Amino acid sequence: MNDGSLNGGRAILVVAFGTTYRETRRANIDAVIERYKEAYPDYEVRFAFTSETIRRTLRERDGEYVDNTASALERLAADGCSQVIIQPLHIIPGREYKKIWQAVRLYSGRFASIKVGRPLLYFFAGEDTPDDYLAAAEALRDQLPETAADEVMLLMAHGSADPANACYIALQRVFTECGLNQVLVACVEGYPSLDDVLPVIARSGWRRVCLMPFMLVAGDHANNDMAGDEEDAWRSVLTAQGYEVRIVMQGLGQNPAVQQIYLQHTGDALADKYARYFDTELTPQEDAR
Ligand code: CO
Repeated sequence: MNDGSLNGGRAILVVAFGTTYRETRRANIDAVIERYKEAYPDYEVRFAFTSETIRRTLRERDGEYVDNTASALERLAADGCSQVIIQPLHIIPGREYKKIWQAVRLYSGRFASIKVGRPLLYFFAGEDTPDDYLAAAEALRDQLPETAADEVMLLMAHGSADPANACYIALQRVFTECGLNQVLVACVEGYPSLDDVLPVIARSGWRRVCLMPFMLVAGDHANNDMAGDEEDAWRSVLTAQGYEVRIVMQGLGQNPAVQQIYLQHTGDALADKYARYFDTELTPQEDAR
C-alpha cells in the first residue's frame, strides 16, 4: 500500500463528460476540481472524462492524456488507493452516468470501498429524499440575468435518448412551481426540442429570448448549436423569427451554488446517505428473481 503518496489511500474522482474548449473547461470543470481540493485536503483529487470523442481530440490536438472512469480507477488501484468516491458532474442520470456505474461494477473488487455521488438532478422531494430539482432551480436563479417582462430565458439542455431525458420535463415543472415563470428548457438532442418550444414562446407573447446552456460547460453545443452562425443554430432560428436574441455564454460549473450542490452530493455519498437507493447498482437483489 502506497500510503505516503496517496493520502492514506483515499481519493475523490471527479468525472465530467468533458470538453475540448479550453476556456470553458477552466471556468467550469477546473473550478469544480479546485473546490474539491479545498474541501477535501486529505484526499487525492483526480478527474476523468466520460466522452471518448473528447478524450481522443485532446490526445490528438494537445497531446493531453485524460482518463476515463475505468482508466482512472485502474490507476487509483495501482497507486494504492483503497477508498474512492466518484462524483459525476453530469446533469441527469443518463447514458454517461450509467457508463460510470459500468466502470464501478468492473472495478469494485479492487477497492475496500467505492461510492458514487448522484448527478445534479436525481431525487425528488420525498419522505426521506432531498429535492434535487428545487436545489438546482434555486442555484440557477443565482446565475440568471435580469430579464425584461417580454423576455424569456431559454436554456439549452443536452438531452438524451435515455428515459432519463424526462428529468428535463420535471425540471420545467419545478421552474414553474418555484416562480421561474420566464424560464424554458429545451434540448439540443432530446425532448423537448427547439421546435417544440417555439409555439410556447410565440403564444406567451415574449419578444426577446436570452439563451444560456443548461450544461456543465459552455462548449461545443453552446458555441455552435446555440450561439453559432449556422442557419439551424438556435440564435439564427430565433432571430429569423423576429426575436431579439442575447446570449449568456456560461456553464453551470462556474456557478458557486451548483459547485456547492455537487459537494453536497459527494458528502451524502461519503456518509452513505440514501445508499439504499444505489445498492441495486452493485449488489444483486434477492427480489430480482
Ligand atoms: Co452532444
